[in-house]
Amino acid sequence: MDQRLAGHSALISGGATGCGGAAARLFAAQGARVTIVDIQEEVGAALATDLRGLGLQASFVKADVSDRAQVEAAVAYANHTFGPPTLLFNHAGTIVVKPFLETTDQDYDYLMDINVRSMFMMTRAVLPGMLAAGGGRIVCTSSISAVAATPMEVLYNLTKGAVHMFARAIAVEFRDRNIRCNAVCPGFIETPHGQREVQALTHYGVDASDAAIRAMQGRMCLPEEVANAALFLLSDEASFVNGTHLFVDNGFTAM
Ligand SMILES: NC(=O)c1ccc[n+]([C@@H]2O[C@H](COP(=O)([O-])OP(=O)(O)OC[C@H]3O[C@@H](n4cnc5c(N)ncnc54)[C@H](O)[C@@H]3O)[C@@H](O)[C@H]2O)c1
Repeated sequence: MDQRLAGHSALISGGATGCGGAAARLFAAQGARVTIVDIQEEVGAALATDLRGLGLQASFVKADVSDRAQVEAAVAYANHTFGPPTLLFNHAGTIVVKPFLETTDQDYDYLMDINVRSMFMMTRAVLPGMLAAGGGRIVCTSSISAVAATPMEVLYNLTKGAVHMFARAIAVEFRDRNIRCNAVCPGFIETPHGQREVQALTHYGVDASDAAIRAMQGRMCLPEEVANAALFLLSDEASFVNGTHLFVDNGFTAM
């Protein structure tokens, strides 16, 4: 079996379910020592136990990525358990779908905190260890929503635009210190997040039917397809890929 991440300590935020869960399975199978960070304790801990049962190295720590103390505690836990992460998958995120004129300051703070502030805090907490280790690789989950707007998703689009640029800016500031930072930008994915989004859009009369998804991207993306794209960006094969946006959308944004 390939061991494309052998020797690395990897931290995955939002690693309990969806693409993060698929990434936890894939990265551990590829030889990484994986710390799963998520707010969902039961599912995250069960996944880590599952992976250890397969003879892989995985551990879970509960944290809300929008809370500084919890982020710092999670990184300290990863440092202690598997050594300072040299791979970081900033994946945790959520969505608010509602008419723009009904969105509140609380919605704004909530979404910016979970989708953007989290990446700032997590990356800032992990980078010193990466630099001390001689380098590292970061992948941030952006979205087609960073470049293609959807009605009822103004705040979400805004957060993903910020993530898009965050990945670039980190790449530029740190490339001479052997850090690579890229973004994956999925289309609609078959995950709890994707299902909630489709339901909410439908509720507000935005066409997110199977036929509309087929027209935009052929079919729903699978979580494993996003995990595979993140694996490539984190692996040695992507050694000269830095500050890029890898769209995992079957041509959605190419149309
Ligand atoms: N599903 C889609 O259609 C889609 C499309 C493009 C981008 N994305 C991005 O993917 C990510 C969502 O992941 P998914 O689709 O795998 O869905 P998901 O809902 O299965 O996974 C999200 C994970 O993040 C965790 N999480 C949420 N808030 C958290 C918090 N405050 N602290 C810690 N963990 C938290 C959840 O518990 C969950 O395990 C988001 O960044 C989202 O913007 C999703």
